[in-house]
Amino acid sequence: MLSQNHLHVSLLYIVLLTGTKYGCGGGGCGACTVMVSKYDQLNNRVLHYTVNACLQPICTLHGAAVVTVEGIGSTKTKLHPVQERIAKAHGSQCGFCTPGMVMSMYTLLRNKPHPTMEDIREALGGNLCRCTGYRPIIDGFKTFCDVSNAFNLFPQASCLIQRKNDCVLNKYLIPCQISEELFHMDNVLPLDPSQDLIFPPELMIMGKKRACGSLCFQGDRLKLISPVDLTNLLELKTEYPEAPVVVGNTTIGPNMQVKGVHHPLTIYLFVIYLLCVHVHAGVSMGAVCTLSSLKEEMERAVREMEAERTRGYQALLQTLQCLAGKQIRNMATIGGNILSANPKYDLNSVLAALDCTLQVMSKENGTRAITLNEELFTGFGKTALRPDEVLLSIDIPYSKPWEFVSAFRQAQRREFAFSIVNAGMKVLFREGTNIVESLNIYYGGVGPTLVKVGRTCQKLVGRSWGEDLLADACRLLEEEVELSDSAHGGKVEYRKTLTTSFFFKFYMQVLQELRERVHIQDSALKPFKNELVSNAQSSQDPVGHPMMHQAAFHQATGEAQYYDDIPAVQGELFVFMVTSTRAHAKIINIDPSEALGMTGVVTFLSAGDVPGQNRRMLFNNPEELFAEEEVSCVGQIIGAVVAESREQARRAAQMVKVTYQDLLPVFFTIEEAIQHQSFFDPKRKLERGDVDKAFETVDQILEDEIYLGGQEHFYMETQGLIAVPKGENGELELFVASQHSAYTQEVVGITLGIDSNKITCHVRRLGGAFGGKVMKIASLSAITATAAVKTGRPVRCVLERGDDMLITSGRHPFLGKYKVGYNNDGTIMAADITYYSNGGCTLNESLAIMEKALLHMDNGYKIPNLRGRGLVCKTYLPSYTAFRGFGGPQGLMVMESVLHEVAVKCGLPPQKVREINMYREEECYTHHKQLFSPRDMLRCWDECLDKAGYHDRLQAIQQFNTSNRWKKRGISAVPMKFGVGFSKGFFNQGAALVNIYKDGSVLVAHGGTEMGQGINTKALQIASRILKVPMSSIHIKETCTGNVPNAAPSAASFGTDAVGMAVKDACEKLMRRLKPFMENHPKYTWQQWTVITAMARFTALILGTSRSQVGYPNAVTVWVSRGPHTDMDWENSEGPAYYYFTFGACCSEVEIDCLTGDHKNLRTDIVMDVGRSLNPALDIGQIEGGFVQGIGLYTIEELQFSLEGVLMTRGPSQYKIPALCDVPPQFNVHLLANAQNPHAIYRSKGIGEPPVFLASTIFFAIKEAVAAARRERGLGDSFPLSSPATAERIRMACEDQFTEMAPSPKKGTFKPWSINI
Ligand SMILES: Cc1cc2nc3c(=O)[nH]c(=O)nc-3n(C[C@H](O)[C@H](O)[C@H](O)COP(=O)(O)OP(=O)(O)OC[C@H]3O[C@@H](n4cnc5c(N)ncnc54)[C@H](O)[C@@H]3O)c2cc1C
Ligand code: FES
Ligand code: FES
Repeated sequence: MLSQNHLHVSLLYIVLLTGTKYGCGGGGCGACTVMVSKYDQLNNRVLHYTVNACLQPICTLHGAAVVTVEGIGSTKTKLHPVQERIAKAHGSQCGFCTPGMVMSMYTLLRNKPHPTMEDIREALGGNLCRCTGYRPIIDGFKTFCDVSNAFNLFPQASCLIQRKNDCVLNKYLIPCQISEELFHMDNVLPLDPSQDLIFPPELMIMGKKRACGSLCFQGDRLKLISPVDLTNLLELKTEYPEAPVVVGNTTIGPNMQVKGVHHPLTIYLFVIYLLCVHVHAGVSMGAVCTLSSLKEEMERAVREMEAERTRGYQALLQTLQCLAGKQIRNMATIGGNILSANPKYDLNSVLAALDCTLQVMSKENGTRAITLNEELFTGFGKTALRPDEVLLSIDIPYSKPWEFVSAFRQAQRREFAFSIVNAGMKVLFREGTNIVESLNIYYGGVGPTLVKVGRTCQKLVGRSWGEDLLADACRLLEEEVELSDSAHGGKVEYRKTLTTSFFFKFYMQVLQELRERVHIQDSALKPFKNELVSNAQSSQDPVGHPMMHQAAFHQATGEAQYYDDIPAVQGELFVFMVTSTRAHAKIINIDPSEALGMTGVVTFLSAGDVPGQNRRMLFNNPEELFAEEEVSCVGQIIGAVVAESREQARRAAQMVKVTYQDLLPVFFTIEEAIQHQSFFDPKRKLERGDVDKAFETVDQILEDEIYLGGQEHFYMETQGLIAVPKGENGELELFVASQHSAYTQEVVGITLGIDSNKITCHVRRLGGAFGGKVMKIASLSAITATAAVKTGRPVRCVLERGDDMLITSGRHPFLGKYKVGYNNDGTIMAADITYYSNGGCTLNESLAIMEKALLHMDNGYKIPNLRGRGLVCKTYLPSYTAFRGFGGPQGLMVMESVLHEVAVKCGLPPQKVREINMYREEECYTHHKQLFSPRDMLRCWDECLDKAGYHDRLQAIQQFNTSNRWKKRGISAVPMKFGVGFSKGFFNQGAALVNIYKDGSVLVAHGGTEMGQGINTKALQIASRILKVPMSSIHIKETCTGNVPNAAPSAASFGTDAVGMAVKDACEKLMRRLKPFMENHPKYTWQQWTVITAMARFTALILGTSRSQVGYPNAVTVWVSRGPHTDMDWENSEGPAYYYFTFGACCSEVEIDCLTGDHKNLRTDIVMDVGRSLNPALDIGQIEGGFVQGIGLYTIEELQFSLEGVLMTRGPSQYKIPALCDVPPQFNVHLLANAQNPHAIYRSKGIGEPPVFLASTIFFAIKEAVAAARRERGLGDSFPLSSPATAERIRMACEDQFTEMAPSPKKGTFKPWSINI
């Protein structure tokens, strides 16, 4: 008897291996990638393919072999070359995505030992990484390419040379040689396919015999039957017409896993009934063919047949290239795609345009053929197939002479994203003419079902393919495509515009072919080509001393443990949160009785169960663990169900009934908060000079605003913990994913009413955090701990992706309203900026975040009169919290927007206006009167423009824009000054405990958290240097509040500074203690010294000697910053808010498609001042990873809330973080040479947060490109563009005849689908 879980969920839970990770549960992230091998009887071969384990029902693997990351290599035996190379190339930071990446690459190599770069791109397209920026992963994997000079072809990230004598690391670490690469290919394991696991012979025998009959798996709530053959299938369908036929499970699976749809019986098709057959008029594809095999078949046909016959197949291929990731394409079937009847799925519009026919069959009526057209789809998810019918095959006809076909799709992200609108178009001309004989146009994404614009097509038949036809077609389309202003999915004007824009593209493509015109302005016709890092990057700059992430091998083999990998503790329970479904309401009643009566449910918790405090105060603002009387956002935790299993807890939580009484007011947006004057206190202001007076003397005044959307952390590992009561003295242990374990400990203590000394938090590593695991995890920990105390049993909490996104929230949306006074030469004399952030319903860290925005508002510009006000809006949304950059990216972005707009108004290049206004003197003061030197910022800027070839490229871009009407390019560069450290001085301290054992081994414990940034690696490097022992003799186990108490959070880019200094201090103390013994026995080894030191201490204790006279082989240190004291006096607008500044500059170029709003990041050059890099590989990893996260922030990551305040984007299917396709193919990162920083460890600089902002260059480059398009149409190049610059916003900003056909409806006349909060 299997539970629903076992029938339908990840292999991970079945095999109890740690390598296959849960990232989303819906096929959207690739963290759970495994390789499935099956015997293919038809072709007598073994197929190896990747799947998403989270969507692969375990029962459906009968007869298959599954290889997880553990199966291919381990640190205990031997690494697989794929594991070794991703680790050595620094492609594993937090490591949570790494096993999935490894399995995708491994499977590719199983099928193709000498892949091309295109193969790698395709294989990894379905794997997301939130840390690395993808580049190092590709660097590692491209070494498998069959190109003798792969390195020269695809050079790695480069950084400027660090002179030999600048070397911070001594011979105990790595030799101080200058390295030309971030990793070496010397001594890496060769790929030897003969060493791969073989397909189990018993499965082969079984497969050959096809011995098994029909299979039946019975779970407690559902049953799965696999028919033995077609007859059996038809019988089953007759007997159980309501049971869905499951093949790839990529529609049914997410519906069951994520949306909670329940099918008591499913019929699973194991057997491949019909593959691909070429028939007289085309290709007949078996319905159960996967999309991968469809793609292969289409590729083969295109390769082998004359082009004229395969136009339809070429169109299909164009779609298939961007459709989902490789794993999904390996699972998903063509039949499933069609019959899912989801208009966002791409195939139906193309197949319908191609006049495909479906062959369907039932027991009663035999076979019949149905045309695939709009009539097949009777509603969303519904088809005209009879319940007892199954789909056998799809006939895809060859194209006829004089027939032209195209497919279009536009999504939020170019690849691995559902389309917003898709289309299939086919036109047949009367032979030898341009007279339309027939026309097929189908759209998906403009209604609940597939839409055929039949009227339009009909009216265009018989017409010549020319300007008149185009004009009429657009008009007819506008009339025929009906999309209500409140349509599901929103983006109504954009979707309407896409319908005409797609047609225009089609018109142009066909015209070009008809006339065989080569000089036509055709750039709009081709979709962007997806590429990986190209060969144009300079690798001439040698780098310093890159060291691999200390846990990279363990991460690459799946041995690295994250909190949810800890095996179940005996008696363990699971807790699931019950959250509010109302934004502002009084809680009338909570009724858990039905839930409590369910199998496995142990208890229900709410505010009354909290033994200590349920309510805490933050700056006089209350923060509740469980909502007591009122809820103030959707997603607020009201209670929690504790049960024996995850599934039981999850199901029972849905049964808890909460009765509400809605309250007013209820509002969500910044604008509404301003209307309601709903702000948290205190409000902040910073001012230098006399702003009002300066406005009187300037040439020009500009008033404008910019809106910046929020961002979800989307760390690959969702939040959670295990709380284990120890049974004695109320002691409790927590294994928790926290960036700030001391805070978690404190909150748990307050909640339970027990002292911190009884609570121990253990953090081994986090699967990404980015600021999101500081505050909210403390509340989750307190709830889980309450459950553990109440039940007396260990309790595990693992948030599902959707709940994580709903409950924990993310980066604050900001609105910057500004008035700026400037002279005609571009000099800005005064700026008055009001920042509004959407703080959500509680204050959380919003005040500190607003402070950081204000403190960064000057960026690198000396604006003599500058005023900033910061107001945190209180709304009825989940509370926003810390996110990498902590307000900096928003504060800086508003100022850069000011600079950009002033440049536009002055008619000057933005880079010139930036230069005019930069801080220049050797000694400068920020607007909060902190002294600094901008020298290194200016060096970064100059070097960046120089290395990017900015001026030459600007000209080239202008030329490109003149000769391309529908594609435009833009380039932008920004400088950056970013404060490092906490402006609250007391946080600027680190703590470490270093133990030396008698065998010479060293154990380091510190207060920082390893979350991918490499803090442990750097700590080891430092300890190794001071103690003069190899890094292999030093170990870091975990972060533990029992070893290092009261540690500051690993945040503010200050983790390594603080921890590094503490480790250094502790090691130096030890060395001082060892020194006398070393001097007395200069020839002894390290181990001998440690032995005699330990013995001396032992003797001293026996003799009663005081400690200080002999040395202890351990030392604990709390290092408190000794640099400038940081503190801010907000009353007087002054104070050294930061410990020091990290500088940088970035230049990016993009290309936009004016017709669809798609954009491509072409090239980015970054010059970053990291002081004297402690570990260039890790620092470059932070720069690239931060930058790519910034790409998400400023261009694609868009959160959508309903009018009722419900977050609708709750998983990777709706919320798009950057994927491989978003990384600029030319991505050059340089570390500034000879940079100094007296204030941090070995003169290095903190680098975690600053690079995020640099991606604003992509935003401004897009704005430049849009402006070029607008100029050509005679429109002003000053126009609003909110961040993120999504495809929708880009398209609608490129106003033209098509956007005019889809005017914005009047506010208040309709109910919008979503709101900009
Ligand atoms: C993360 C992710 C990303 C995706 N991205 C895209 C994308 O970009 N574009 C896109 O077009 N699609 C996308 N998809 C959707 C995917 O292509 C479809 O889910 C898939 O093609 C469905 O095939 P399946 O075999 O998995 O169907 P299943 O989930 O097994 O079944 C789907 C439906 O089809 C019915 N069915 C299937 N086969 C038969 C048959 N032979 N006879 C009768 N009924 C049948 C089932 O009963 C069920 O109702 C994505 C899916 C995921 C999970
Ligand atoms: S967990 Fe399976 S794809 Fe995300
Ligand atoms: S290393 Fe890829 S998600 Fe962290």
